[in-house]
Amino acid sequence: MTQLSTLITEAWPDFGLIDSGGGRKLERYGRFRFIRPEPQAMWAPATPDWKADGEFIGGSEEDGGGRWQLKPQVPDRWELSRGPVRFWASNTPFRHLGFFPDMGGQWDWLASRIRPGDKVLNMFGYTGVGSLMAAQAGAQVTHVDASKKSVAAARENAGLSGLADAPVRWIIDDALKFLRREVRRGSKYHGLIFDPPKYGRGPDGEVWQLERDLPELVDLARQLLADDARFLVLTVYAIRMSALALHSLLAQATASRGGQIEVGDMAIREEARGLLLPTAIFARWSA
Ligand SMILES: C[S@@+](CC[C@H](N)C(=O)[O-])C[C@H]1O[C@@H](n2cnc3c(N)ncnc32)[C@H](O)[C@@H]1O
Repeated sequence: MTQLSTLITEAWPDFGLIDSGGGRKLERYGRFRFIRPEPQAMWAPATPDWKADGEFIGGSEEDGGGRWQLKPQVPDRWELSRGPVRFWASNTPFRHLGFFPDMGGQWDWLASRIRPGDKVLNMFGYTGVGSLMAAQAGAQVTHVDASKKSVAAARENAGLSGLADAPVRWIIDDALKFLRREVRRGSKYHGLIFDPPKYGRGPDGEVWQLERDLPELVDLARQLLADDARFLVLTVYAIRMSALALHSLLAQATASRGGQIEVGDMAIREEARGLLLPTAIFARWSA
């Protein structure tokens, strides 16, 4: 069965999309407010003059670039939480704050599907919030990312969340290399989380290119799903691709299993008027 949906992440105590419009968005991250460019916010903002502790100026979404202009009260980093998971926020040169709040809806969904002792693999895990949500729900987690720095940040977030001793394997590796090795070893997982970038590099310079490599990624995922697997979540952003394409790919990989596939847009609900700001597309399968 296939369902077309919009996965909406609502504001929570430590995060909210306060207002949006005029090509920008105003968000709150704990006690600080920031303005960032947002090409899709083509409408007018709810209020004209935004007060913020900092703004990310310039650079296009495509080529990166640009920089933060921050008021002196903004520290290098500060603690945030979402439910039981705590993590550091900071103004990164990549225009984001060190985690992706629009993943909130995915974290809730997968946490609700995890049974204690399930094996969950989080690929492209970055600063680990998704891995910690899964660990918190009782999973044995394998967290993989190409960047040593990201994995170190993820481990620090585990400590902050009181999950330093949780059963999480922290792995620095290239995504496809790791997955191919896991398939050869006959490893199996109950849950898979894939949040690949458009373009990236493995620790030895291996090139990840979404359109070229996604089919192999999903085929490897198919081989890693345990007979009693519960879910597979795939999210894609910053790319010209429809959620329907993700649907076709996942439908093929899970054809023999039945279950459900849900695909669509991911969005954050603006607090001012409830407008939906799209952030990514997704496809997810569940048994
Ligand atoms: C933007 S993040 C994904 C967001 C993350 N899942 C989250 O929710 O916070 C993309 C991650 O992919 C990693 N990456 C890029 N190329 C990779 C590769 N070839 N193999 C493994 N990880 C890679 C980057 O280091 C980065 O941490």
